[in-house]
Amino acid sequence: IRRPPRSTQSRSSAASDVYKRQGLTFDDVLLVPKYSDITSRSQTSLTTQLSRNISLNIPFVSANMDTVTESSMAVAIARAGGIGIIHRFLTIQEQANEVLKVKRSGSIMIENPYSITADKTIETALDYAENKNISGLLVVDDTSKLIGIVTERDLLFANSKNLIQDVMTKDVVTAKYGISIDDAKDLLHKHRIEKLPLVDESGFVKGLITSKDITNNAAYPNASKDGKGRPLVGAAVGVKGDFLERSESLLDAGADTLVVDIAHGHSENAISTVKHIKKAFPNCELIAGNIATAQGAEDLMKAGVDAVKVGVGSGSICITRVITGSGVPQLTAVMDCAKIGRDYGIPVISDGGTRNSGDATKALAAGASTVMVGSMLGGTDESPGTVLTKNGKRFKIYRGMASLGASIGRKSKENGSTSFDDLNDYVAEGVEAMVPYKGSVVDILKQLTGGVRSGLSYCGAHTIPQMQTNAEFIKMSRAGFAESQPHDVSLM
Ligand code: XMP
Repeated sequence: IRRPPRSTQSRSSAASDVYKRQGLTFDDVLLVPKYSDITSRSQTSLTTQLSRNISLNIPFVSANMDTVTESSMAVAIARAGGIGIIHRFLTIQEQANEVLKVKRSGSIMIENPYSITADKTIETALDYAENKNISGLLVVDDTSKLIGIVTERDLLFANSKNLIQDVMTKDVVTAKYGISIDDAKDLLHKHRIEKLPLVDESGFVKGLITSKDITNNAAYPNASKDGKGRPLVGAAVGVKGDFLERSESLLDAGADTLVVDIAHGHSENAISTVKHIKKAFPNCELIAGNIATAQGAEDLMKAGVDAVKVGVGSGSICITRVITGSGVPQLTAVMDCAKIGRDYGIPVISDGGTRNSGDATKALAAGASTVMVGSMLGGTDESPGTVLTKNGKRFKIYRGMASLGASIGRKSKENGSTSFDDLNDYVAEGVEAMVPYKGSVVDILKQLTGGVRSGLSYCGAHTIPQMQTNAEFIKMSRAGFAESQPHDVSLM
């Protein structure tokens, strides 16, 4: 009887598998430059699929984290051509309200504009306007007939205890619902007004056109929009408790996509949540994650998702790999999942570990259709949180959603408790960090998209799908990596 060779004899197959493959990530590889006929970056297109039925004009998605994406980030990234995913660590109503703010921020014609009755106080109107992030309110009677309008100017310096009826403009210029934008512009100009309520024959409010929305629309020609011309926005849901009720409210508010958000997406919890949401809302464009393997991707795709989010332990604030020993280096994870994605016709989102446009280009070349970004967009004017100063430098907090701080925040929000006793057993898989204050996210997105356009050109590609066909990765040594960084100079 011949014995098996010694090397395999005493090892289990799981242990020996470790020698079969090597996981690679962004710093392990470079893209080999290819002949390019591109003479200007503007000849490249960054149009891409977020999910089966949603396309974007740039391949960037802002992360569903409480220090990254609420309505202001989502508005900014949609104006640039991408999409933001509103995090889920809010009450259902708060999260739906964030979705609504995005939807109302850029549509030329607002349907169901916010209104108030004339018997309310100015204080109530101001609170309402602040909560909804708007600068004026239509005034209606009990039957929703338009009877006036209050704008910032009417409310400024007014006694807050006075009633709306004391300050509102009663003689309102209106137009018929269905008016063309050009005719609306003429009316806004003729009467030197900023808001044009739209009413039906009986005077019931049907919509609102504002000069700000018309200007914004022209200012952002690359914006990603839904069928009604409103900015695209997504929202995250969990796998426990209220997820069906939350999904319904978010979809009602106009969310274009929902993201089933769970750290270990290749799990019964994630798969059954996907099935439940798809059953309850068959038209919902559903993304789920995070996963890091082909099998994980395939199981979610079979369950009915329209895109998968790939990345386990790759994020800048993640310690999942340290705490659990689990994960797959990001580039390999994306390549494996994208291969299955091509078979099923389902896009892959690379989530986590993107530190610059070079990483994003490599993720796209490896098969991702979009890249979800956290830390790069944190610390901006549009990310939630205040700017803090330490040692003369300005920064903002950026934290993992599985960090202790985020969990304490969640607990105190859920039950008003500030006792940490019930967190004694909590095992954090994320850290809290500071990122430098960076100003507006608009400039960061410009750098990211400009870099990816140049990356396409180095791959001899006009489009992201073309780059995925052309891409040739080369593995590099430590010396190659060192050579790729600025070296032998003193950085200023
Ligand atoms: P970047 O690298 O862009 O990564 O900052 C953002 C992504 O990190 C993930 N994320 C976490 N992962 N523990 C983790 O293991 C956490 O606490 C955590 N919080 C966020 C998430 O996928 C995000 O998009």
